[in-house]
Amino acid sequence: MTEQLNNVQESISLAFSALAAERAAVAATNANGAAPHIPAQLFPRLGTYLLRNGMVTREQLDHALAYQKAQKAEGKDVRLGQTLVDLELVTRTDLDRVIMEQMIELQNALQQSNRVLEHRVAERTAELQEALTKLMELNQHKINFISNISHELLTPLAKIKGFSIMLADQALGDINEDQHKALHTVNRSVLSLEQLIKDLIRFASTARGEIKVDLRPTDLQKVYKELYQDFVAKAQREQLTLSLDLSPDFPAIKADAEKLNWALHQFLDNAIKFTKPNGRVILGGRTNGTHALLYVEDTGIGIPDDRISELFVPFHQLDGSSTRHFGGTGLGLAFAKRLVQAHNSDIELESKVDVGTRFSFLLPLA
Ligand SMILES: Nc1ncnc2c1ncn2[C@@H]1O[C@H](COP(=O)(O)OP(=O)(O)OP(=O)(O)O)[C@@H](O)[C@H]1O
Ligand SMILES: [Mg+2]
Repeated sequence: MTEQLNNVQESISLAFSALAAERAAVAATNANGAAPHIPAQLFPRLGTYLLRNGMVTREQLDHALAYQKAQKAEGKDVRLGQTLVDLELVTRTDLDRVIMEQMIELQNALQQSNRVLEHRVAERTAELQEALTKLMELNQHKINFISNISHELLTPLAKIKGFSIMLADQALGDINEDQHKALHTVNRSVLSLEQLIKDLIRFASTARGEIKVDLRPTDLQKVYKELYQDFVAKAQREQLTLSLDLSPDFPAIKADAEKLNWALHQFLDNAIKFTKPNGRVILGGRTNGTHALLYVEDTGIGIPDDRISELFVPFHQLDGSSTRHFGGTGLGLAFAKRLVQAHNSDIELESKVDVGTRFSFLLPLA
């Protein structure tokens, strides 16, 4: 019986500690200042309980506590209830009854506490849900803004482009050698600005929802040749060798040719941008009979392992400083990832700093 009693008292102590821990947790989440629960108020300790119910006097309790302390000093760990029984201040029957009552009170206190906690959790969930909705709205505003501003930028840019081409072609009168060079630079800048704006428009239009792909048998040779045409001049300007590595009888793949072109466009643009003069960029493909592995490989600056997770975050560049050497908005890979995922595939990346990088992904053969 004594052992049972001790066990019950131990359980109550444990429950008491659990309540205290819960109080700490609730206090920590109690951001709006509502009064937290105090377990001692919900559930008094045994001595207080006996005192409150007139079952012992203050003197008797102090005496029992002092006795218990002295026993402890002698290495005997006796519970207060047992001490009160030993000192014949409380009968065992009364003690049993009191402990039972305490258990019931404790259970009620825990239930009440749980209800409060559940209520708080529901409140916090609603707050988080509201914050999420606001964030999604904000994101939508951002995308709309990008889309609108990009379209607005394209119109005047088209005029700048048209007139600078006319000027360069001397359609508006003769120009000298220096003016020709200057216009050439203007034209190149206009083209890259136009490309950037088109990327923004594509990103915004695909960021609004799922990217729809029209998967059809696609001739990879054709896609690669177009990309080669788009990039060869730029590679030459950067003194890089751009080459295709694809067997002439490469089988058709299942893809959306336009969106595949957009994705590879981003990889190639990066490969050329992040590779120093005299380096190499390869656009290649391999097949294993069921799938094609498409890859863009460079001998560029590489990407440190611990920064790979940052690459696909929209508007994020590894060198985001104002003194950064490379241009861009940090959208390319985020966009490419969505395009590749729309093809039910995922981008693989191998990279070594100062050695080079290889982006690849698998697509099924048609
Ligand atoms: N081939 C690569 N070699 C080294 N670093 C790369 C390579 N490709 C991407 N990165 C790193 O990943 C970052 C994100 O690339 P991403 O294409 O998303 O943006 P960006 O090229 O900087 O800008 P944008 O593509 O919008 O013009 C780059 O800024 C660069 O730090
Ligand atoms: Mg890029």
